[in-house]
Amino acid sequence: MAKPWTTEDSAKLYNLDGWSLKYFDINAEGNLIVHPQRSAELAIDVKKVVDDVIARGIKLPVLFRFQDILHHRVKLLNESFRKAIEDHKYKGRYFGVYPIKVNQLCEVVEEILDAGAPYQYGLEAGSKGELLAVLAMNGPESLTILNGYKDESMMRLALLGVKLGKKVIVVIEKPSEIGLLLKASKEMGVRPLIGLRSKLQTQGTGRWKYSAGHTSKFGLSSPELLGAVATLAAAGMGDCVKLLHFHIGSQVSDIQVIKDAVKEGARVYAKLRKKKFDIEYLDCGGGLGVDYDGTHTAVDSSTNYTPREYVNGLVYTIKEVCKQEKVPEPHIVTESGRSIVAHHSLMVVDAVGIMESGATPVELPQTETEAEVVTEMRITLQELNPKNLAESYHDAVQRREEAFSMFKLGYLELEDKAKVENLFWLICREIDKHLPKAKYISEDILDMIKTVRAQYLCNFSVFQSLPDSWAIGQLFPIMPLHRLQEEPTQRSALVDITCDSDGKIVQFAGHRKTGGALPLHPLRNNEPYYLGFFLMGAYQATMGDIHNLFGRLNEVHVFEDADEPGGYYLEEVVQGQTVKDVLTSVQYLDAELIKMMKDQIDVLVKAGTIKPREGVELLDQYEAVMGHYTYIDRNAMRVIEEPLPAAEKDKPAAAPTAAPTPPNPA
Ligand SMILES: Cc1ncc(COP(=O)(O)O)c(C=O)c1O
Repeated sequence: MAKPWTTEDSAKLYNLDGWSLKYFDINAEGNLIVHPQRSAELAIDVKKVVDDVIARGIKLPVLFRFQDILHHRVKLLNESFRKAIEDHKYKGRYFGVYPIKVNQLCEVVEEILDAGAPYQYGLEAGSKGELLAVLAMNGPESLTILNGYKDESMMRLALLGVKLGKKVIVVIEKPSEIGLLLKASKEMGVRPLIGLRSKLQTQGTGRWKYSAGHTSKFGLSSPELLGAVATLAAAGMGDCVKLLHFHIGSQVSDIQVIKDAVKEGARVYAKLRKKKFDIEYLDCGGGLGVDYDGTHTAVDSSTNYTPREYVNGLVYTIKEVCKQEKVPEPHIVTESGRSIVAHHSLMVVDAVGIMESGATPVELPQTETEAEVVTEMRITLQELNPKNLAESYHDAVQRREEAFSMFKLGYLELEDKAKVENLFWLICREIDKHLPKAKYISEDILDMIKTVRAQYLCNFSVFQSLPDSWAIGQLFPIMPLHRLQEEPTQRSALVDITCDSDGKIVQFAGHRKTGGALPLHPLRNNEPYYLGFFLMGAYQATMGDIHNLFGRLNEVHVFEDADEPGGYYLEEVVQGQTVKDVLTSVQYLDAELIKMMKDQIDVLVKAGTIKPREGVELLDQYEAVMGHYTYIDRNAMRVIEEPLPAAEKDKPAAAPTAAPTPPNPA
């Protein structure tokens, strides 16, 4: 007898150990739990938090922020550098900065600054808006780094910061920025703090590999770098060059590439140092990756190293180069974004329905008169076993084609065509079930498997909440938040509620034997089914768009507190956008729309087509939806369709209904 399914089986199936960094686990009730500080003593039952939030009238989908995870990530990175610096007897210090473009939300930045205060952890900006935010938020002890293309007003803002005693370093991205900075500095009478971004030859890996290399749109090539220091020295500003910067791209999956880049960057630093430019900081940019798929490999959605290995690699490599070149060891700066913020946020959506390929709303029983092609399909289904999967699949495809040709030529009844189609999907599903036992799985079967998955209709928009999944095929861990003591028997794909066929997720980190499908539980009538989308904290929140006018999500900020029931309290609820909000953002004013509707209703009332009271009710109904959350209300949906009774053909013929009486020509 098969062993009963356990929560350990679920943990293994969803590879929690691989991606969760021990922040998430499963409790004995089969619910997902979070350990915000990675300590086993404090666990928050996420399913219970969701129930709590819903009881307070907050609707799904909801983005949960576990602020303590954020705190923990900042502390961990800084402590890792502290330890590596101590272990390697490195002479410089670590001054990290958080690039706010990765998640600009004010509460996120505040939490990071709070956690980073003991380490003088600073901020990085790349645009006017970001600069205004970081200038106000960041203190004088930590670094404020300004990257990206700049105009004169940005240079002036940076110098304003310097005037206020802040360490604002302007990183020169292209030669023409030097003139702008020197002009502003002269006019304002402020000596700038200057960084130079070097365009490294070492190219990153993965999707952002073009952030470095000759064709990168950022940074100074070696001749431009030499030109820049010459210009600055000639202007008497050589001593203002404080930092050398490089960035080879986000989510660098291979540690060897990172070490190569650091070696090259450190070498450039050393050569400039020998030219008597007293650069204090070596800024290694972002790139510290997140193991989204939990495979610990150098594929795009993973990393073949841990944050600790990254930190040690940086400290050791820089030290070695400085030793060889006999130059002082610089303070190390990194601009890690996703590794700091990815884990703290979790999107929870409810699955509101299932669509199955080949689902039939009518019964199609075997009959004596059915065509031979139907009988052959039945035999293929009966004889299917783990050893003949490919053969059975090819037979089924061939018979389905035959049936289609016969139907076109008029040799097959619609009922028999329906039976062939239905049997085809039954065969495909049987093949899917046998896959784990199969020795070899051909590519055409893998393609087919993607089409037989149950499609779970989920209450969210890929375009708003997972832009990287839609645009670049980024994988995110996704799993149910409850029923984890129960075997998930459905191989699934997820579809969102936008009216766009792209609005779906079909590829999940997983074993080839499930064809990359997501195992889920069958939905139960009138019972919610919550899915968690994990590691959502980096880039997703502000890069999403309002495609189909699905707006920003409700957000709930959760803090751990051992004294509170459940070990947590909800500090803040940020309301998601209403229908009126998103309409306004595309220039529809609610008052105008309501007036237009009222005018149309008035015409019908005047014509006597509808009664005045009915008109008022209709307008109220229209107006009420303006204040709704843009997502659907699962309580107002039918979750699972009941199968309809047997097909008309198999039923006794019904008495013909009376034809409608033709209108009296008189
Ligand atoms: C200049 C710069 N710094 C830092 C980062 C953040 O990178 P990550 O999120 O990989 O740490 C980026 C992102 O691409 C960047 O362009």
